[in-house]
Amino acid sequence: MLKPHLEEARKRTKSLVKIEDFHIRDDLKTLGTGKTYFVKTYGCQMNVHDSENIKAILEMMGFSETFDMMDADLILLNTCAIRENAHNKVFGMIGRIKHLKEQKPNIIAGICGCMAQEEVVVNEILDKFSFLNFVFGTHNIHELPEILNRAMHQKNIDIEVYSCEGNIIEKMPAKRDNKYKAWVNIMYGCDKFCTYCIVPYTRGKQRSRRFDDIISEVKALKDDGYKEVTLLGQNVNAYGKDLHLEFDMSDLLEAVAKIGIERVRFVTSHPWDFTDKMIDVIAKYPNIMPYIHLPLQSGSDRILRLMGRRYTKKSYLELFDKIKKNIPNVAITTDIIVGFPSESDDDFEDTLDVVRKCKYDSAFTFIFSPREGTPAAKMKDETPLKVKEERLHRLNELVNEYALEANKKYLNKTVKVLLDEESDKEGCLAGYTETMKLVNVKAPKEMLGKIVDVKITEVKTWSMNGEIA
Ligand code: SAH
Ligand code: SF4
Ligand code: F3S
Repeated sequence: MLKPHLEEARKRTKSLVKIEDFHIRDDLKTLGTGKTYFVKTYGCQMNVHDSENIKAILEMMGFSETFDMMDADLILLNTCAIRENAHNKVFGMIGRIKHLKEQKPNIIAGICGCMAQEEVVVNEILDKFSFLNFVFGTHNIHELPEILNRAMHQKNIDIEVYSCEGNIIEKMPAKRDNKYKAWVNIMYGCDKFCTYCIVPYTRGKQRSRRFDDIISEVKALKDDGYKEVTLLGQNVNAYGKDLHLEFDMSDLLEAVAKIGIERVRFVTSHPWDFTDKMIDVIAKYPNIMPYIHLPLQSGSDRILRLMGRRYTKKSYLELFDKIKKNIPNVAITTDIIVGFPSESDDDFEDTLDVVRKCKYDSAFTFIFSPREGTPAAKMKDETPLKVKEERLHRLNELVNEYALEANKKYLNKTVKVLLDEESDKEGCLAGYTETMKLVNVKAPKEMLGKIVDVKITEVKTWSMNGEIA
């Protein structure tokens, strides 16, 4: 048994991580023959892509996918730890699995992902949910075949979670959810340690992938017919800093754009490392999409300092204006936390002020959720939940107002949309504009995977409707 430790997870070493290729033992390639698996994913794009790796590994072992948990021989929850409600959803699901296991005792079930990296969660699982067969973390996805092999042959729960990151694993297989757009990791982990955030503990220190490995992956995706790649990292703008080489995110972005894949995106951009050179590169290449997610978190300098974000309201607004001025038609979205410990009405007004100035295309808004082991969880927090909820409500009203306003500018305009999936609306396909607006388009299935000119006929707060121009 290997349990995670918070103190260990906090440590940062200067040593460069090693790189190794994914490998699966021949005798494990038939372990899942004739069996089905069900994977449920919570959390951010990184977890979504991890699940794509997990599914591909399971299929290399002979398992086949089912989308009905009731039918599955193997159940795996890939979890997120970012806020308390993410936890609650997973524990609710574990309850359902318990029920299922009582009826079908041969089912193998386990959890992985960011919650598995939390000491408190693993202790709770050992205490209350030891009917699960296995737990592994974010650092050893590549060991899944061995972990399952053990879990299928032993009675007791197998806990295998490393507190610290290991090597970077290259050549991981991926069963991608979409045939036209793909996630590409460019870095793992995070060293920013914003005081409210659990990610630096659950994902380890920042490790950038090698330039050449990223370029080869994007080239291969292009050759396979993919139209769009999204470069993934918690702080993509800090790409390469840990490698101590002469290139940075702007060089990587430029090199990826030059491969000629039709659309290049990236998330998430911390304002801290956003350079002028980055802005120039985005503006220069038409295949780098004019869409930036630029988390604000708070508009109050006092709260930003307590959060450890390393920018001020003024410097954020300057960066925002520079991006708007230099990248034509750019859309900018954000993340905002309300009710951080000690946030006053005045602090909150500063946040609203930034929102009024930036008129974001859209925003993800959250009530602060204390995460065990983070500095903010220990800060004095006297604001009643009711006040926080009122603030969130006011913020959302404002955000929605500007989102609709931004979308209205598209009415009767013709924009390029990559039709990437069938829409819930009958006879429609769905896709995104270059600026990341969701559009439902009346179009036949044969047009899936095409980038088409669409005339926008109706706009709402969260989506638009259109027809082929
Ligand atoms: N790396 C990204 C954020 C990843 S987490 C960045 O730095 O911008 C996604 C969002 O979740 C964050 O931007 C933040 O708004 C929110 N979040 C993170 N920790 C939180 C917490 N403890 N409580 C509430 N929201 C949180
Ligand atoms: Fe969390 Fe901050 Fe790192 Fe983003 S930059 S993942 S908010 S610690
Ligand atoms: Fe959640 Fe882990 Fe992502 S905590 S947001 S799944 S990095």
